[in-house]
Amino acid sequence: MQKTLKSHGTWIGKWTFVLAATGSAVGLGNIWGFPYKAGTEGGAAFVLIYLLCIIIIGIPIMISEILIGRRSGNSPINSMKKSAIDSNRSSSWQLVGWIGISAGVLILSFYSVIAGICLNYIFIAASSSGEISASEQFASVIQSPISLMIWHTVFMFLTFLIVSAGVKDGIGRMVKILMPMLGLLLIFMVLYGIVKGDFSKALLFLFTPDFSNIGTNTFLSAMGQAFFSLSLGMGSIMAYGAYMPKDQEIVSTSFSVGSLDTLVAIMAGLAIFPIIFAFNLEPGSGPGLVFISLLSAFNQMEFGQLIGAIFFILLSVAALSSSISILEPGVAFISEERIASRTSSALIISFLCWVVGIGTVFSFNIWSDYYPLPDKNFQETIELISVQILQPLGGMLIAIFVGWFMNESIIKSELGDLNPVFYKLWRFFIRYIAPSSVAFIFISQLL
Ligand code: PFF
Repeated sequence: MQKTLKSHGTWIGKWTFVLAATGSAVGLGNIWGFPYKAGTEGGAAFVLIYLLCIIIIGIPIMISEILIGRRSGNSPINSMKKSAIDSNRSSSWQLVGWIGISAGVLILSFYSVIAGICLNYIFIAASSSGEISASEQFASVIQSPISLMIWHTVFMFLTFLIVSAGVKDGIGRMVKILMPMLGLLLIFMVLYGIVKGDFSKALLFLFTPDFSNIGTNTFLSAMGQAFFSLSLGMGSIMAYGAYMPKDQEIVSTSFSVGSLDTLVAIMAGLAIFPIIFAFNLEPGSGPGLVFISLLSAFNQMEFGQLIGAIFFILLSVAALSSSISILEPGVAFISEERIASRTSSALIISFLCWVVGIGTVFSFNIWSDYYPLPDKNFQETIELISVQILQPLGGMLIAIFVGWFMNESIIKSELGDLNPVFYKLWRFFIRYIAPSSVAFIFISQLL
């Protein structure tokens, strides 16, 4: 490559990467996606299948993303390009980076609107006296485009501020504050669930194994959840890998991130469901679970305003540590190409996400009858393209590139002296299992 790309620096110390990547992984997906799926799609049976997906597909792809990123030290577009050229392959593999950045803009556009609602709910929960029901409250929040826009703007602005401050001083410093805070809040919520909630019913709901309904759909759902939850296939982990110190071990670090992400998902279930069951509410999924069922529980419980506010702070922190990782790949690309300064690059991509996000804001109200695709409103269409198509496509291409096209000596030098048995296993998963599983998701979705 002729042009010298601007360097972004590296994380200080071993833990920053783990905190940042775990911050990326732990987000809204863990808190309202995993627990509900586990509870309704087979309990311990779903948890086992999910763990299997994490181990044989998620972690192998995570290792691949980190090794490509760390080897080149650049944004996903340039890291893919460099790795391809160094392996005597076509530079068009950079397309994978472009897919990632496009997926990122689309994902962040709606993630920010939902995270904005979480921010708004910190104040709603803190002042809610239960005069209006939680479902009326939620309806009034989403019916107001102005209020949704304000909170979407606030959340996007926070994301912009952190990313524009840089890898070390922005993201690196913030995850060291956000992640311990998230851990403490979550431990507090689980303890609260144990003491005050119906903990045994929550355990039964989450872990009673039910193999009778396990089918193709369970695998699809677990695999999709694993992709989204580990932030794979769209360059976030690759971008963070670019800042990983050279002496850090990639494989064990990936296992740590995957385990922490799964632990948080399980703990989120153990925080939420004891409260839901103690008040005889229905477990639901997605926004309905936290914005309606949980708020209604907070409205009825002692110190509910305080506990509710704490819960929504937890949710917002988890969302923020994910959103910065979604913004980073695009910002890294524009700034390393010296097209604009880091601040202006962050402004450009944030603005793009913000504009697309307006469509999600409207999909809750003035566009609620507008369906760009059959049965899919604007937000659902954006989610379909980004989460269900671009993200797995990116992951599959990364697996194919590393498994079949990347020079093996480069791979081995990045993985260090890995136990040969582990190496062989990983190589098998990345060449055969990961690409074919993702292809299987696509084919099933088409059918
Ligand atoms: N992993 C995040 C969650 O579970 O909410 C979402 C996410 C973050 C997806 C970063 C994709 C990404 F690149």
